[in-house]
Amino acid sequence: MSTILEFQNVSKHYRVRQQDVAALHDIDLTVEAGEIFGIIGQSGAGKSTLIRLVNLLERPNAGRILVDGQDVTQLDELGLRTLRRGVGMIFQHFNLLSSRTVAQNVAFPLRIAGLWSEDEIRSRVAALLDRVGLSEHASKYPAQLSGGQKQRVGIARALATQPRILLCDEATSALDPQTTQSVLRLLDEINQELNLTIVLITHEMNVIRTLCDRVAVLDEGRVVESGEVVDVFLHPGHPVSRRFVFESEDVDEELLQTAFEHVDGRLIRLTFRGDTTYEPLLGRVMREHELDFSILSGRIDRIKNTPYGQLLLGLNGEHISEALDHFRHAGLTVEELR
Ligand SMILES: Nc1ncnc2c1ncn2[C@@H]1O[C@H](COP(=O)(O)OP(=O)(O)O)[C@@H](O)[C@H]1O
Ligand SMILES: [Mg+2]
Repeated sequence: MSTILEFQNVSKHYRVRQQDVAALHDIDLTVEAGEIFGIIGQSGAGKSTLIRLVNLLERPNAGRILVDGQDVTQLDELGLRTLRRGVGMIFQHFNLLSSRTVAQNVAFPLRIAGLWSEDEIRSRVAALLDRVGLSEHASKYPAQLSGGQKQRVGIARALATQPRILLCDEATSALDPQTTQSVLRLLDEINQELNLTIVLITHEMNVIRTLCDRVAVLDEGRVVESGEVVDVFLHPGHPVSRRFVFESEDVDEELLQTAFEHVDGRLIRLTFRGDTTYEPLLGRVMREHELDFSILSGRIDRIKNTPYGQLLLGLNGEHISEALDHFRHAGLTVEELR
């Protein structure tokens, strides 16, 4: 893996009526070529600011931002134009030109760049529209399209100059859940086909869970947690991350608390990942170590390509610690909550 994007000690504030409004503090992040990197945070956390620094739509007040090892803040006019061709962007509200057709919208960045002939532009636009499934809509106007189709135009337009990085700013937040899934699937496909690096910001953990390899949690302008999505999702270490995970899973913390109070014995959370998810381990361990158990909550699903299961158990019996060792040996994560 090679690093394609790096934030080093980046800070940003806005000047509003003679006052500094802090947006980002001391951000350090590294994105590897070819990965899908998610940034999650509440509204106002600084996500859009962070992503807009990459193609210098905003300038940092401190720190360095390296794209392919080059500090973008040092680029001259020409360098900046080259950078922007190499970094595509899509937006929550699509930002299409309403007076131009679908094909003209996709052709727009190519015309601006002035590097391609009309013939080249035409064939490239046709290929892009085909890729995003909109060939039949080439001469329609944005107002004639659904939200999902508009975002597909946005994606085609962002890919027109063959960028190596695609920035997505809440790209599915205006879409219904089903359309969201189909847009996420398209992003996943182009990530793999083109080895395109994607940096995606969202306030929805389910978007992160479906698409991303790694994630950083942003809160009040600071990265409070980052890592593999599987790790952050199954074992969120920061209260803000925990809230995002619980929200997406509809976990009712009060109900859990009630369950805790009504069950005696030990409380254990077991996490299965990958192949162990499908093994009939629970019954075997309970029998072998003569334990009684009750399941207080559970979820079995997948995170991108990794199946997982997580169970909250109340346990009673003489040989609990042997049973927990048994689980650990089998590759499960065991958390002793009580
Ligand atoms: N152009 C701007 N001028 C002044 N303050 C801004 C500007 N853009 C963002 N901010 C402020 O910076 C903080 C981070 O905003 P933003 O990056 O848009 O967060 P997010 O995308 O996570 O909602 C907020 O406090 C916001 O009000
Ligand atoms: Mg934003």
